[in-house]
Amino acid sequence: MKGKLASALQYTKHIFTTGAISETSREVEIEICNRLDSKGKVYVEFGMGLGNITQEILNRMPKDAKLYSFEVNEDFCEKVKALIKDDRLVVINDGAENIRKHVTEEVDNMISSMPFTFFSKEKTDLILGESKAMLKSGGFFSQILYSKIHYKKFSAAWDECEMIKTSNFPAGFIYHCLKE
Ligand SMILES: C[S@@+](CC[C@H](N)C(=O)[O-])C[C@H]1O[C@@H](n2cnc3c(N)ncnc32)[C@H](O)[C@@H]1O
Repeated sequence: MKGKLASALQYTKHIFTTGAISETSREVEIEICNRLDSKGKVYVEFGMGLGNITQEILNRMPKDAKLYSFEVNEDFCEKVKALIKDDRLVVINDGAENIRKHVTEEVDNMISSMPFTFFSKEKTDLILGESKAMLKSGGFFSQILYSKIHYKKFSAAWDECEMIKTSNFPAGFIYHCLKE
């Protein structure tokens, strides 16, 4: 509980970039990773925060794969580097919109918990466009949001989209978006 309380304070302190007052629940960590290709080579995470979903992705990916985790908050990046000692993890202190500066490979899966609600239309379009271009055919971009309002936009950007509601409070909506 001490850890959960400490992370809640961190998220609340930076509310305008985190868009959250606590880290995502265990239910979200599991569901958001449910479309992960367990035989992939390259994974990307947007909005690493303090690394709870990061750890779940690492648990599910192969021993020789790589995970690029993007996070704009430098303090969060330093904390995760100290906490998760795993050679497969590359922590990138930069925004998802700059993915091409850091990742050159084709990506098997993308997992995002970024607060799209706070992003401009231009930034959202840029991130979704770059993500789709870099994702392999048959790969999923999975996103947690606390509203259904983005579903139309995500559905338009991807070839197929499914929305799963979580049972915890406040209810979250996980969008699993497929690139055909
Ligand atoms: C709702 S928190 C999620 C944190 C954690 N992954 C979790 O599941 O609880 C969103 C995170 O996205 C980060 N973020 C905001 N804008 C970003 C951007 N453009 N690129 C990468 N990360 C960003 C925030 O700093 C914050 O840590």
